[in-house]
Amino acid sequence: MNKQSIIKKILHLKKIRNAVILAHNYQTEEVQDIADFVGDSLGLSQKAAAAEAAVILFCGVHFMAETAAMLSPDKIVLLPDPRAGCPMADMITAAALRHEKEKYPGVQVVCYVNSTAEVKAESDLCCTSSNAIKVVQSLESHRPILFVPDQYLGSYSASKTNRDLILWPGYCPVHMHISVDDIKNAKSRHHHAAVLVHPECRPEVIALADHALSTDGILRHARESGVKEFIVGTETGILHRLKKENPEKVFIPASQAAVCVDMKLVTLEKILWSLETMEHRVIVPEAIRKRAVNAVARMIEII
Ligand code: 13P
Ligand code: SF4
Repeated sequence: MNKQSIIKKILHLKKIRNAVILAHNYQTEEVQDIADFVGDSLGLSQKAAAAEAAVILFCGVHFMAETAAMLSPDKIVLLPDPRAGCPMADMITAAALRHEKEKYPGVQVVCYVNSTAEVKAESDLCCTSSNAIKVVQSLESHRPILFVPDQYLGSYSASKTNRDLILWPGYCPVHMHISVDDIKNAKSRHHHAAVLVHPECRPEVIALADHALSTDGILRHARESGVKEFIVGTETGILHRLKKENPEKVFIPASQAAVCVDMKLVTLEKILWSLETMEHRVIVPEAIRKRAVNAVARMIEII
């Protein structure tokens, strides 16, 4: 089947199933182009919570679909490829977190949204890359704070809030590989470019950037800034929207190798399969959901 026929079938089935297609900024160009909404983790979870459709087809990775399922328990949430995970989310388990919490009486746990529902259920408050600073600021200063699982978003939030955070040693393999040399080399070729990076990057990379922002934050900044050239330190999927929304500006990826293979597992063919079979359904057991959703709901109250 050619691409146009697949797209036609997807749009037809989407209506029959009463489905909405949500896609993350790192999805492939063709997936972003057929989605009803493209955004960052926070925007996507807000869309999922407010969705009126009966089915949410989530083009992203597992924790994102799981968050949508937690916020909209009455809806069917589909992930077109069940293998689309997040290596960072897998760097902590609920059991390991419970064990760590025992070491710090009175500890408050902030979990990055890139975590499983079980880990969220053990946490007090969730955050995304766009609100981590506000979330950390909202916590009681006399009690210890454990930030999981991203050590780099954690250290960035600590530096911006002057709070001492206990950091879990997790990281995103995609952002960790963006190096100081990548930024310096790009800068040497594009002297006037502003450097925008994701806070999942290493501190020494963030130190060279003009701004550390969530994916939607990068998109907003590029739109609103008077600057015409940007070096972009995050997953390369974001370049599609950046170029589409700002045709007169130039965007240089800090590293062409910054590709999240899990995000790229979603394809048009799999989206069609998902709408045809109503697979793969993401379900969060109610006992876990009840506890995990508190951390996400508290975050949404703060922002
Ligand atoms: P954003 O919430 O900034 O889109 O980030 C999600 C993510 O997985 C980054 O690697
Ligand atoms: Fe996870 Fe990194 Fe991929 Fe984001 S880019 S989904 S943090 S592996």
